[in-house]
Amino acid sequence: MDKVTLQQLQAMKERGEPISMLTAYDYPSGLLADQSGVDMILVGDSLGMVVHGFESTLPVTMDMMVLHIQAVRRGVKRAFLVGDMPFMSYQASRDEALRNAGRLLKEGNADAIKLEGGIHMAETVHDMVQIGIAVMGHIGLTPQSVSAFGGFKVQGKSIEAARKLIEDAKAIEQAGAFSMVIEGVPAKLAALITRMVNIPTIGIGAGGGTDGQVLVMHDILGMFDRFTPKFVKQYAKIGEAIQNVFTTFHQEVRSGAFPAPEHEFGISDAVLNEILTEIGDTAH
Ligand code: KIV
Repeated sequence: MDKVTLQQLQAMKERGEPISMLTAYDYPSGLLADQSGVDMILVGDSLGMVVHGFESTLPVTMDMMVLHIQAVRRGVKRAFLVGDMPFMSYQASRDEALRNAGRLLKEGNADAIKLEGGIHMAETVHDMVQIGIAVMGHIGLTPQSVSAFGGFKVQGKSIEAARKLIEDAKAIEQAGAFSMVIEGVPAKLAALITRMVNIPTIGIGAGGGTDGQVLVMHDILGMFDRFTPKFVKQYAKIGEAIQNVFTTFHQEVRSGAFPAPEHEFGISDAVLNEILTEIGDTAH
């Protein structure tokens, strides 16, 4: 199957065909996500929480992102691969932002980068797009600002907040982003923004009126132990299944049930007897 392109994603919006995106963090999850047929794969900085166990995404570094994107890339041949810019890799200066975005493409071999923020990030997005970097915006409940928001709270509920969100979306579009994530926003507001912009919007906790949907892999698999947000649909309880396998392995090692004869390698009696004689072991 051919690689998904920016032009195809744009055409999907124009045809009203929903776009699917999943996160992945390593080679096997990248491979499985790619083979599932999803249109886009995001190596999100959510890996700080679901893979590394941090309390937020803030401790994630550029080196961590590059390493995870490289691993995912080895499994992804078809889907459009987006690498997330971690906290403080693009906020301090435009030069640093460009260099770091370049690293995700050059070292990670991502197809595009994603960064959080609206109006205040528009110039940075513009500069990246000018030098040929495909940029995905991310507005609404942007997890890197979780402390400033006072927690993981739905955004855009007041008149001023809704206006600000619309301005953010327009600014990101005008700056040249090819798409944007809208996170933690009332469904009707996200649908309105989707109608107001000409690039694909990908929602997470933003209802069914966006052009596409993204969810975190560990959430839909039931593999994140701490909490499951209201907007997540948990399709399986893989965490429980893994726990049962680990417990059974542990019990079988203790009881001697594992390994069984079918897991062992054989040796000929002639070789073994020769060795036993050599070492003077007559007990066997
Ligand atoms: O980091 C991430 O996984 C994300 C998605 C939740 C959109 O930004």
